[in-house]
Amino acid sequence: MAILCGIGIGPGDPELITLKGWRRLQQARVIAFPAGRGGRRGIAEEIIAGYKHPWQTCLPLEFPYVLEQAVLEQAWQKAAKEVYTYLGQGTDVVFVSEGDVSFYSTFSYLAAAVQVLDPTIQIEAIPGVCSPLAAAASLGMPLTLGSDRLAVLPAMYHLDELAQVWGWAEVMVLMKVRSVYGQVWHWLKEHHLLEQAAVVSWATTPKQQIYTPLTDFPTLTLPYFSLLMVWKRQSNLRNV
Ligand SMILES: C[S@@+](CC[C@H](N)C(=O)[O-])C[C@H]1O[C@@H](n2cnc3c(N)ncnc32)[C@H](O)[C@@H]1O
Repeated sequence: MAILCGIGIGPGDPELITLKGWRRLQQARVIAFPAGRGGRRGIAEEIIAGYKHPWQTCLPLEFPYVLEQAVLEQAWQKAAKEVYTYLGQGTDVVFVSEGDVSFYSTFSYLAAAVQVLDPTIQIEAIPGVCSPLAAAASLGMPLTLGSDRLAVLPAMYHLDELAQVWGWAEVMVLMKVRSVYGQVWHWLKEHHLLEQAAVVSWATTPKQQIYTPLTDFPTLTLPYFSLLMVWKRQSNLRNV
């Protein structure tokens, strides 16, 4: 039976792919990935560019950046059909996903849509380094220590949600922070947390940008690949 294998290829630095992920990539006949925008390579395609062989078939899949559930479901079903043209003939497909495959990744939706088409297709996942781990390393900060509780907010959090989460977490990670950065900055200022907060964009890539402390950055024009981290712990626990 054919296998759809999701490979987490890490946050950007191609050396952060696991050996297992790299080996499966080397052996793959068909490599699927989220298509880039405007004729440019997507981040996943960029990360694996140096690892691809000319004999491998590349399968860019379109996943729109929208919130409408119906549009998204249509895209997942269309992508599943494209992948299934190979799987249905007994050819394994690998899907490479930036970061980790089970951490806010399109792979989960793609795999579910493929299983609806054909429940006999096997799904496999090879984990990768996800962006909060990479960002903490870039900052030289232990992400969590001792009994720290870690909260990850995926997107579209409201300010009252921040206060609620901050009530119990020692470390908070805000994904997709680009569109709400200004509001979050004011919230951090109000709570005297600007000194203990950082934004990392394009972690581990040559385009990496680090902003910390956030005191001097009330406004920032950030790329999509940006996240914000804030610690209750004081910055004297930096490990570099
Ligand atoms: C759809 S989620 C994908 C998460 C990814 N699967 C992972 O394991 O990190 C996209 C969000 O992840 C964060 N992100 C992913 N890669 C990043 C990187 N290299 N640097 C900073 N943030 C990143 C950003 O907040 C971005 O908006």
